[in-house]
Amino acid sequence: MSQALQAIQITQSIYWVGAIDWSLRDFHGYETRRGSTYNAFLVKGNSGYILIDTVKRGFEHELEARISSICHLKDIKAIISNHAEMDHSGNLPYILHRIGSDVPVYASMMGVKALAAHFGDNVKAIAVKNGSSLEIDGRTFKFVETRMLHWPDSMWTFDEKEHVLFSNDAFGMHLATLERWYDECDPAILKEEGERYFANILMPYAPLVSKLCASYDSLGIDVAVLCPDHGPLWRNEGIQLVLNRYAEWSNKSRPRKKAVVVFDTMWHSTESMAHAIAEGIHSSGCACTLLPLSGSHRSDVAAALIHADALIVGSPTLNSGMLPKVADVLCYLAGLKFPIKLGAAFGSYGWAPLGPKAVAEQLKSLCLETLEPQTANFVPTPEDLEACRNYGKSIGDKMMSE
Ligand code: FEO
Repeated sequence: MSQALQAIQITQSIYWVGAIDWSLRDFHGYETRRGSTYNAFLVKGNSGYILIDTVKRGFEHELEARISSICHLKDIKAIISNHAEMDHSGNLPYILHRIGSDVPVYASMMGVKALAAHFGDNVKAIAVKNGSSLEIDGRTFKFVETRMLHWPDSMWTFDEKEHVLFSNDAFGMHLATLERWYDECDPAILKEEGERYFANILMPYAPLVSKLCASYDSLGIDVAVLCPDHGPLWRNEGIQLVLNRYAEWSNKSRPRKKAVVVFDTMWHSTESMAHAIAEGIHSSGCACTLLPLSGSHRSDVAAALIHADALIVGSPTLNSGMLPKVADVLCYLAGLKFPIKLGAAFGSYGWAPLGPKAVAEQLKSLCLETLEPQTANFVPTPEDLEACRNYGKSIGDKMMSE
């Protein structure tokens, strides 16, 4: 086995043996501009090692090479699977095939079912209960179920000897880097990618994150090192930093009233309406982000919506409906369940304003309240644009008054 890829020691007896996916640009619809990592860990026991999680299929040789730089594969005495999604479980069958299928695999109750549904008889896991502790090869682990963070089966594993928490998807980010620690990375990139990950992966479960953050101190785990399964690991003051960020991102309270204006345009009419509406909103004292879909991905829109109060969406009318990129964004946002209070639609039309109307209909399921759309026939006149600015101002005033 090549020694070009090696394990990285993260504590006295724990090693990172994951994979770096430099090429990943799409994670089920979320644009991962900086790639990702699939973190896996080897924990030293009395007679061998315990493997925590595996990596995505296609990266098995990277995982195997890093493990082999520390021990023989046959030295793995047990595997703990914190989450059944394929980016972490995809190589369980391969590793079991290589080390012997009698090696025990531990997972949450739901994890056992999910692994069986993925791999059939190739992975027969043993259930560990929420809050229980288990000694494996002389090492004691405590398990905390974190249902829906990110799937019903998700759990955390806490190593009592070195106070290391393996948190799976939680506190991670999609960022390919050779640096293993957060304090070796650019803090601005960490904040941006962490926020983007939260918005695109965890936002539907923000109330659960908020609850978990609030109960963190009562979990009875004194964490010295926090190891998510994506991106850099957290230590020292980084642990509180990421906990604080999760509490902030999952909290509905807004530091400043903010609107996000998203649009696509055919002949620049809807575009000029977007500019006028955004300036009207801003004139009320609200922050306002403008995202043309010609250059913004659906996951940029999701990231911008953290802490937004209003979502304003523009589309001209195409074949009695909205433009495809607008439909794509609205479909994506429907699943992410942002707590948006106010929605509004706008756009130009030739014969009938069916594009903006269709947008307004869809916004009704995303926002608590949706205003009547603002429209203009073909090319907006100066009067139309003034009406757009006033429309924006009335949106801004409404936001400021709530
Ligand atoms: Fe990183 Fe839900 O998997």
